[in-house]
Amino acid sequence: MTVELIGIGVGPGDPDLLTVAAVRELSAAGRVFVPVMAPDTPGRAEAVVRAHLTHDRIERLVFALNDGVDGPQRRRHDCWDAAATRLVAYLREHAGSAAFATLGDPSMYSTFGYLAQTVRELLPGVQIRTVPGITAMQAAASAVGLTLVEGAEPLTLLPLTRDLETLDDALARGGAVIAYKGGRRLAQLRERVAAAGALDRAWCAEHLGTPHERITPLAHTHTAGYLSTVVVLPPRGGRGAQL
Ligand SMILES: C[S@@+](CC[C@H](N)C(=O)[O-])C[C@H]1O[C@@H](n2cnc3c(N)ncnc32)[C@H](O)[C@@H]1O
Repeated sequence: MTVELIGIGVGPGDPDLLTVAAVRELSAAGRVFVPVMAPDTPGRAEAVVRAHLTHDRIERLVFALNDGVDGPQRRRHDCWDAAATRLVAYLREHAGSAAFATLGDPSMYSTFGYLAQTVRELLPGVQIRTVPGITAMQAAASAVGLTLVEGAEPLTLLPLTRDLETLDDALARGGAVIAYKGGRRLAQLRERVAAAGALDRAWCAEHLGTPHERITPLAHTHTAGYLSTVVVLPPRGGRGAQL
């Protein structure tokens, strides 16, 4: 029997943005593992999954989702190890398939990548595949209501976990710039966007697809949490001018 782990993108948070393929895989999986920050607190991915599933084969795995990257990383690694060990124990005992639900897309800055790598080391015969999901970047563009990129414009997506020079470089390069994980450094982020002369073309999209969704011009955004995405659009001419 094939033993497989399927990383399933569940979109940014709105259950309506789960794909038909994802619902089919989640429904068929022997168990659906969901990432949480604490064992007794459901996460966003779990809420999306539960909105569709008629079974209750759901199990939480704790990750250090919100820890910064500049402090000690022991807790983060311990969580990856513990989660992978639990998943492998499940797959050894039950064979068949286990699904792991992750916000957005599993190939974009997702916990799934680290988990899959560790599971493969512990269980070399395991098959691993993914089901794509709608990213926060796409949901943010939709919520702002503007085209993200046109014609020859480049698109830069970057996580603001470390220095902000990468943001300066991206803004200088031109095209659309999307910043993930910038909530903690919003004031600095806003300063850099203003210095690049782009503040009137920038938005902050928070808690997309949830009842707390908030879309504000970056110029008027003073605080934001972890689930926030900043979109900076390039200046544009008339129709087709970017081709
Ligand atoms: C670990 S990354 C996950 C990205 C995800 N895999 C994707 O494909 O979009 C987490 C970052 O994604 C963004 N994000 C994810 N869900 C979001 C949401 N519902 N609203 C706003 N931003 C979100 C935030 O910038 C957050 O810091």
